[in-house]
Amino acid sequence: MKFESLRIAGLRCLEGVSITPAPGINVFVGANGAGKTSVLEAAYLLSHGRSFRSGSRDILLRRGSTALSVFAEVSSGDGRTRRLGLGRESGRWQARVDGDTVSLGSLVQECAVVCFEPGSHDLIAGGSEERRQFLDWGLFHVEHAFVNQWRRYQRALKQRNALLRAGSPLDPSLIEPWESELAGSGEALSAFRQGYLDRLLPHICGFMSNVLPELGEFVVRYKPGWDEANDLATTLVERRHRDLARGHTTAGPHRADFSVAFEHAPLREHLSRGQEKLCALACLLGQASLHAEMRGEWPVICLDDLASELDRTHQEWVVAQLMGRDVQVLVTGTEIPHALADQPVTVFHVEQGAVTVLL
Ligand SMILES: Nc1ncnc2c1ncn2[C@@H]1O[C@H](COP(=O)(O)OP(=O)(O)OP(=O)(O)O)[C@@H](O)[C@H]1O
Ligand SMILES: [Mg+2]
Repeated sequence: MKFESLRIAGLRCLEGVSITPAPGINVFVGANGAGKTSVLEAAYLLSHGRSFRSGSRDILLRRGSTALSVFAEVSSGDGRTRRLGLGRESGRWQARVDGDTVSLGSLVQECAVVCFEPGSHDLIAGGSEERRQFLDWGLFHVEHAFVNQWRRYQRALKQRNALLRAGSPLDPSLIEPWESELAGSGEALSAFRQGYLDRLLPHICGFMSNVLPELGEFVVRYKPGWDEANDLATTLVERRHRDLARGHTTAGPHRADFSVAFEHAPLREHLSRGQEKLCALACLLGQASLHAEMRGEWPVICLDDLASELDRTHQEWVVAQLMGRDVQVLVTGTEIPHALADQPVTVFHVEQGAVTVLL
């Protein structure tokens, strides 16, 4: 997938920006606070329905603006071009594909952006939610059947939690149908995630053996969110009273995680901050590579602040990985990263929220 055009209005310091990115490597340069990361954030919003930066969704709205919008024309390998739009006004998202109003989920499925940014080490060092979102984003884009199971699961979870919050006495005839729905969709979700991780691992390892060869073999283990000695249906029944006391469902795929370990760094606490970043980079490139295998085309790759995130050797390595492939890349920096100095790149200058192409 490639962005043919990107128009952004009312997002952080970007008041009205129109960009025509090149199919290859695009570099956005400018001073601190100029708005470079915000350009990547706009691309990412179309692909994830949320930002990679923390904060409420409304923090994205330009101070003083009541609405933000991102429009893009995206082309895919099969020659199709689609018009994608995402707007936020009065606390609500509105998503469009080719002029039709669609759900946020349907928009996100049309747009694939993988982003390596200063917060990416959270994929390794952060909480389990980061890793679930990573798996689910991948599945959302390559397994259409996953979406249905995910929705079924979220709905059943909400219903079971509402019954638990209502307190005792619990009426078994009310909770049992939701537990059965939760168990059915939950087991299916879990199988999707386990299968995805199995397919992903060789792609990640291909990159990992280059970025962190000194750490030896890389191993991941999926943890489904409940004790694997039992199935989910049995677990939910067993936990009913404990869950009633807590007021929510304490086991299931909404608690899933995966652990990462290396032969010579068995605990993630053994990794330096830079190694966490490199590990996250290999996972993200692995995800992009699996996407390319399954969808027949690479997602757009964003590298925010490349020069300050990686040492020179690794900057050169990541550039070399991407140069030979049919992939659109959006890179930011206060100046053109050293690794890209002699490469054919398109450069945009970002200054106080305005973006101009440098010819
Ligand atoms: N809601 C908002 N409304 C208006 N301006 C905002 C809002 N949120 C952030 N900003 C401003 O927008 C700019 C954010 O820019 P961004 O983070 O994209 O900069 P950057 O070019 O990536 O900078 P750096 O090199 O420091 O990473 C900053 O100047 C910030 O103060
Ligand atoms: Mg930035």
